[in-house]
Amino acid sequence: MADGQIDGDGLKGPRYDFSKRHLIATVDTELRRLQTDYLDTFLLHRPDALMVLDDVAEAFQQLEQSGKVRYFGVSNMHPGQVTLLQSALSQKLQINQLQFGLKHTNMIDNELHVNVDSTHTLGDNSDILSYSRLNKMTIQAWSPLQYGYFGGVFVDNEQFPELNATLQALAIKYDVTKSSIAVAWILHHPAKIQVTIGTMNVERIVQMTDLDYDLTNQEWYDLYVAAGHDLP
Ligand SMILES: NC(=O)c1ccc[n+]([C@@H]2O[C@H](COP(=O)([O-])OP(=O)(O)OC[C@H]3O[C@@H](n4cnc5c(N)ncnc54)[C@H](OP(=O)(O)O)[C@@H]3O)[C@@H](O)[C@H]2O)c1
Repeated sequence: MADGQIDGDGLKGPRYDFSKRHLIATVDTELRRLQTDYLDTFLLHRPDALMVLDDVAEAFQQLEQSGKVRYFGVSNMHPGQVTLLQSALSQKLQINQLQFGLKHTNMIDNELHVNVDSTHTLGDNSDILSYSRLNKMTIQAWSPLQYGYFGGVFVDNEQFPELNATLQALAIKYDVTKSSIAVAWILHHPAKIQVTIGTMNVERIVQMTDLDYDLTNQEWYDLYVAAGHDLP
């Protein structure tokens, strides 16, 4: 989203902006804000419906050559969009940041409900996981503990008694917190998904990264079902 504050182009109002000018100005602004020389990763956040491929390609080229950005990626794009963008770029798109967690499992639901009568939509989103694994693109799970679209945290939420009971039983078994189990559920997937936790609370960070164990496949499925998802 841009509001004219970053590159001083005077444009006002919400929009996605993948123009070369805006991408470069954004990086420069972030480097100043973070007081550093380069960004490890730079993600294009949500597709810009008006993106011009050559514009992005030139911006990435300039950002890479100047040493300001090491790796590039996207956020909330489906495989078709990634393929389109990638076709114009010299740099590999390394990351796709997508909402994923026990209460937001569209990527898994779509993989399981293949060719069955189901309310799950098999559209362009259906093969994000397969696409990412095939192309060695890392998925970063955003809002891993949230339900809905910023509905709130499902851990210790009385709206989800079955899920919390299953989390609790496993938390006791592995001697960790329920939030750690929710993170372990994401990490157990063979796609090597990275978990983008949002807490700023040091104690929670320590607890959630207490991950010296691995769930069994049965426990992974038990949590999936306890979260309200069905197996066809
Ligand atoms: N690419 C995208 O479209 C997109 C969209 C949204 C977010 N993101 C990224 O994803 C990151 C994570 O998002 P998120 O903040 O929604 O993630 P989250 O880890 O699911 O939720 C963290 C929030 O839950 C609270 N919380 C309550 N109980 C908790 C518990 N038991 N354990 C841990 N946290 C608990 C935390 O509060 P305390 O701080 O008080 O612990 C914090 O406000 C963001 O920082 C952002 O970078 C990306």
